Amino acid sequence: MKTKNVLDLTDLTHKELMEVIKLADDIRRCPSDYAGACKGKILATLFYEPSTRTQMSFQTAMLRLGGTIIGFDNPQNSSVAKGESLKDTITVVGGYTDIIAIRNPMEGTAAAAAMYSPVPIVNAGDGGHLHPTQTLTDVVTLHNEMGRLEGLTIGLCGDLKNGRTVHSLIKTLSTFKGNKFILISTPELTIPQYIKDIINASECSYEEIPSLAKAMPELDVLYMTRIQRERFASEEEYRKQHGVFILDKAKLKAAKKSMRILHPLPRVDEIDVEVDYDERAKYFEQTVYGMYGRMALIIKLLETSQKEFPSRVMSTHPFRCNNPRCITSTEKYLPNVFREAGGDMLICKYCDGRRLI
Ligand code: CP
Repeated sequence: MKTKNVLDLTDLTHKELMEVIKLADDIRRCPSDYAGACKGKILATLFYEPSTRTQMSFQTAMLRLGGTIIGFDNPQNSSVAKGESLKDTITVVGGYTDIIAIRNPMEGTAAAAAMYSPVPIVNAGDGGHLHPTQTLTDVVTLHNEMGRLEGLTIGLCGDLKNGRTVHSLIKTLSTFKGNKFILISTPELTIPQYIKDIINASECSYEEIPSLAKAMPELDVLYMTRIQRERFASEEEYRKQHGVFILDKAKLKAAKKSMRILHPLPRVDEIDVEVDYDERAKYFEQTVYGMYGRMALIIKLLETSQKEFPSRVMSTHPFRCNNPRCITSTEKYLPNVFREAGGDMLICKYCDGRRLI
């Protein structure tokens, strides 16, 4: 695979993505064939934020491939607690290991880590920005459950503003033809403009609807999400949004028999437990597909990776990104790197935040 780092799943070409999906399927059918595929290799999981699925599925993926793991799930138990920078942590851990999966609450952290890492960086979630290996989990699930990744009507419901899984999933599915996204949220939690721009520039379409019940009959897939409590400025703001959309058996009566219900998990209460017993509910199967997806991704990234430090990146502009959640606001040495978006608009290379010149 030519791609070195996976900051978003769209870093992979379509051909690379389809190869990873196929390999995930092959591993699922015959795991023993791959039991030694990563013998002698070491994965680091650097988790600055809580996780169950992403961390443990990365770890079990590497262990099932015959490799080993190191890392932390609480940065306070590492030298981060003494003030060590992201740059220094990545430089050191990259020297010890062959691949790094990193999760951090600041947006753009994985992109920043990739600037200093001699080994592949996989974004395991950067704040409310992106979560590419959840998207890999989702597309492996859809490929198996729906038999296709195009021509689908997909309802995405809940916290579309802060839900990084939603952002990454739309970015990837927008690269397939004819998908229609039904965006179900309150006015306060709508999808960021940059994601709408990506859909508008693709062969897909979207509609924003404030009612789950209204959207239900036309959906092929319903992707429920949690309201991201940890991204709200106050508990009061969170409480206003919590409990607005709840999927229960009564609402499911209007859905197609063939509809599939996905959720990246963890669930709080946006899906009633009764729904778990409906044959359309696939969110627990989804977690297992995710482990095979991560096994396939690790194999593909390590097949071609050569340990070497990237060249130094210099600032492209004299000013900083003005997104307070961007990694550049805490790691002060990072260069200012922007893409030109036409007119006076710049897009931050780390967090996709926009600012005017
Ligand atoms: N889906 C997901 O990212 O779950 P965790 O936060 O448990 O890793």
